[in-house]
Amino acid sequence: MSDVRSILTTKRDGRRLSDAQIHEFISGYVAGEITEYHAAALLMAIFIHGMEERELAVWARAMLESGRVLRFPRIAAPKVDKHSTGGIGDKVSIPLAPAAAACGLAVPMISGRGLGHTGGTLDKLEAIPGFRTQLSADEFERCLERTGVALGGQTPDLVPADRKLYALRDVTGLIESIPLIASSIMSKKLAEGLDALVLDVKFGSGAFMVERERGAALAQAMLGLARDFGVRATALHTNMERPLGRAAGHTLEILESLECLEGRGPADLRELVCLQGGEMLRLAGLVPTLEQGKGRIARALDDGSARECFARVVREQGGDARCLDQRSLFAPAPRVELLHATRDGVLAWRDLRAVGFAICELGGGRKQLGDVIDPRVGLVFLREEGARVSRGEPLIEIHHAERGLADARAKLERSFELRPEHAPAPLVLASWSV
Ligand code: URA
Repeated sequence: MSDVRSILTTKRDGRRLSDAQIHEFISGYVAGEITEYHAAALLMAIFIHGMEERELAVWARAMLESGRVLRFPRIAAPKVDKHSTGGIGDKVSIPLAPAAAACGLAVPMISGRGLGHTGGTLDKLEAIPGFRTQLSADEFERCLERTGVALGGQTPDLVPADRKLYALRDVTGLIESIPLIASSIMSKKLAEGLDALVLDVKFGSGAFMVERERGAALAQAMLGLARDFGVRATALHTNMERPLGRAAGHTLEILESLECLEGRGPADLRELVCLQGGEMLRLAGLVPTLEQGKGRIARALDDGSARECFARVVREQGGDARCLDQRSLFAPAPRVELLHATRDGVLAWRDLRAVGFAICELGGGRKQLGDVIDPRVGLVFLREEGARVSRGEPLIEIHHAERGLADARAKLERSFELRPEHAPAPLVLASWSV
């Protein structure tokens, strides 16, 4: 191996890394031949100087090739997934995956756990009694073959470079870099062996990329990588200035997802499920237009086929599918308290990140690795952004188990304002395809 310092100084001086330097760095780092301090120095230089388009593509490919890429030769259906950059109450994947499968797609969905202020799909699914998300590669493929959906976590052999780089970025303050996020997300999604991908890139105070311009730049970087890898993709730029749906917290979000799977539930959740699912069908070539795709997904939600598919997935992944009919099988939080409006005004969210951290205070998120999540706790938003409310009116239900209540309340009280006027931004701001 050449002197690793020459790789670091190239980037330190704002120059482009060569293909050979990138491959040497990624393979050396995964093999343990490059130290954490060398890697941290390079990541910091990338954070500061960014990456050119070609450089990013080579970096992402080197990450992808650091591990195994899934292939499903026995599955004829188009393999399509979606990824969301996440936010408060974003449970779209849970109704979306079975709805898309009910319309003829195979959805090999590898998801993550809660990160920072956001909840993770895996943690939410584990609120279903018995549901297993740690599937072996064989189990994942069998579930996909039998149900059209597999909902699993990252395995050690999938993109090991991301596992190491992500952990290092996390402890060195290097998460919020567009090339590093784009390569991290896309290397994992491309390892699923997809034909097409829908990206939901959030903007607003509950999103990782708060500013709209940064969200748009992240979307473009990810689409550039999809194009490079020959995967059809669409990025939707959607609103996380307010929670999605009415519920946030693991069990509460599963219950709301079940409502959506029964053709009910909050309109914004259904709209995003239909939009993202419709676009998945369009990208896969199963429908000629987005409108037709949306219609197909809406029918799958209304006619019970999406719910039936979800019941099969739950059974296949070890969960107790009786809970779809008997909601009493979900343990509720022992107590529910209300947070009231202290004056008249129009509801406007100031800081949704604080809402996520309020749920963490209640025990519904991890403050450090290894913390055990209490799936019962969470919030129900009783009034929507832009609603005119009166003093004394209940705004939020706090589902809790005694722990962290005062801290959660304090965070929630700071998270919104009651203004004289407030006009909410639209749910979907833009859509770009490659
Ligand atoms: N999610 C990821 O998978 N990677 C990032 O870098 C940020 C969010």
